[in-house]
Amino acid sequence: MKILVTGGAGFIGSHLVDALAEKHEVVVLDNLESQVHRGKPKYLNEKVSYIFGDIRDGDVLRRALEGVEVIFHEAAAVGVGQSMYQIEKYVEVNTMATAKLLDILVNEENEVKKLIVASSMSIYGEGAYECDSCGVVYPKLRGEEQLKRRKWELGCPYCGEVVKPIPTSEEKPLHPTSIYAITKRDQEEMCLTVGRAYGIPTVALRYFNVYGPRQSLNNPYTGVCAIFSARIKNGKPPLIFEDGLQTRDFVSVHDIVHANILAMERNSGNYEAFNVGTGKATDIITVAETLINLYRRDLKPEITNKYRAGDIRHCFADISKIRKKLGFEPKISFEEGMKELVEWADRTEAEDRFEIARRELEERRLVK
Ligand code: UD1
Repeated sequence: MKILVTGGAGFIGSHLVDALAEKHEVVVLDNLESQVHRGKPKYLNEKVSYIFGDIRDGDVLRRALEGVEVIFHEAAAVGVGQSMYQIEKYVEVNTMATAKLLDILVNEENEVKKLIVASSMSIYGEGAYECDSCGVVYPKLRGEEQLKRRKWELGCPYCGEVVKPIPTSEEKPLHPTSIYAITKRDQEEMCLTVGRAYGIPTVALRYFNVYGPRQSLNNPYTGVCAIFSARIKNGKPPLIFEDGLQTRDFVSVHDIVHANILAMERNSGNYEAFNVGTGKATDIITVAETLINLYRRDLKPEITNKYRAGDIRHCFADISKIRKKLGFEPKISFEEGMKELVEWADRTEAEDRFEIARRELEERRLVK
């Protein structure tokens, strides 16, 4: 079977390509974004054909789609903070390019039988919480007033009492809080809507905080594990926003690949969106300390008590739906996964451009 992976030279896409290439003919469309790549990465799979081009270009897309039966749409501009000042670019690359892909699928001849789109936990905004008096609640982002007082935990939207985070299920209303997140919701909803209307089996996978080998250590706009890794490798302490007790669901890229393969091979997930995480919450101090220990550096995380505009406090996945419908089970524990990340990062060069990125965010009042 011929499969197209957009963004297939990237962190998640390339792992997916390696798994697919064992059994299938794979074509990759990727622009080798300079913020992420320094030319062609060494890990590119030799069994696969690569088209290096821009997904916004209809002719490039048409060429990539020739004879393709399954599409994994992983290509996206991925900086959350950056999306707040490069708005047009994020909408073009994420929303508009997806629109173009769908236009081709419904208006032109093709053999596509399945579409799997990379969505994101960012579309939820804050995770789900429980209030002792009011039950399950979905608070919006913390207000500026509260954050200025350095009061980090969420209050119940009804009674104001402090609420406790609980696993976030797919039923939670979507409250995207960045342009990036809005474009991810667009991608997910456009693909599912067009898929349903035209009978193209489509699955959206809402990735939680993905980490693992090949994560860009040079792109200062990526996730916290890469940012901390690059700092620690360069002998600098990780800088922690808020008090470090905020939590996320860190999921290994290998588990993400596994979920994608299940979504392709089984029909039980068609036309639906699924969380892909571990179901476990890990706080940011634990991430920093685990990485410092694994790198064997004598460093202490620095708690800045500053905060990033639009940051959520807690979000971790309820994975019962993907367990039940796709038979997905996360296999890599946080400890194992971090160990693998560090073993890889130790062999990889990391430019510390994070200071520059942080200053840029501070200048734009996105870190306060
Ligand atoms: C955001 C997106 C998510 C995306 C991820 C990586 C939202 C809700 N989610 O996630 O879709 O996959 O970015 O691009 O928009 N932190 C520090 N110090 C740092 C960097 C981060 O303390 O130097 C903290 C942050 O304040 C946050 C946590 O670490 O509390 C996680 O940050 P990050 O890795 O950027 O991911 P999210 O904000 O969860």
